[in-house]
Amino acid sequence: MGRPKGHHDTGTSAWIKRFAPLIPPGGTVLDLACGLGRHSRYLLRRGHPVVALDIDVSALDKLRHRAKLEIVQTDLEAGEPWPLPGRRFAAVVVTNYLYRPIFPELLNSVEPGGVLLYETFAAGNECFGRPRNPDHLLQRGELLALLRGHMVIIAYEDIVVSGERRAAVQRVCARQP
Ligand SMILES: C[S@@+](CC[C@H](N)C(=O)[O-])C[C@H]1O[C@@H](n2cnc3c(N)ncnc32)[C@H](O)[C@@H]1O
Repeated sequence: MGRPKGHHDTGTSAWIKRFAPLIPPGGTVLDLACGLGRHSRYLLRRGHPVVALDIDVSALDKLRHRAKLEIVQTDLEAGEPWPLPGRRFAAVVVTNYLYRPIFPELLNSVEPGGVLLYETFAAGNECFGRPRNPDHLLQRGELLALLRGHMVIIAYEDIVVSGERRAAVQRVCARQP
């Protein structure tokens, strides 16, 4: 079994755990850029059908038998049309991935009453390690600016976390009105 390069399973994000109870019960969740599937597995355990999407889905082989799991292998950055046209989800979960051109599709993919749970690296992370490329780092207030006028912000943080290593992150939980 392969695994996407450059990262490993660090367990369920505390942010995702904290706000998962706000996902409408039984609703389908999109785990975007799911990697090794740590959040797909967690959300399946919570009873949600999950659509797990990544450019490299090899790490999900052991989960393929799960009836409630749909695996989508696609390159989100290839300039192709959005791979899930017209689909709306009870939650869209994105952790440790940033590709700004798909922001509009992310917002459109959350059904009314559904939530967006987004947590990724932010400017300032250069001090602690990778990613350092500004393309992969949220600017100060960027998530808030993205969501303003579209979704209701339930919680937001722009902080330095200290887990396995220190990292600058922004994270948001927002509800689609
Ligand atoms: C740092 S990992 C985060 C994985 C997971 N969200 C997590 O937090 O455990 C980034 C993920 O983005 C995926 N990715 C990178 N470029 C991608 C692309 N162009 N299209 C789809 N997924 C991509 C990688 O394969 C990798 O699984």
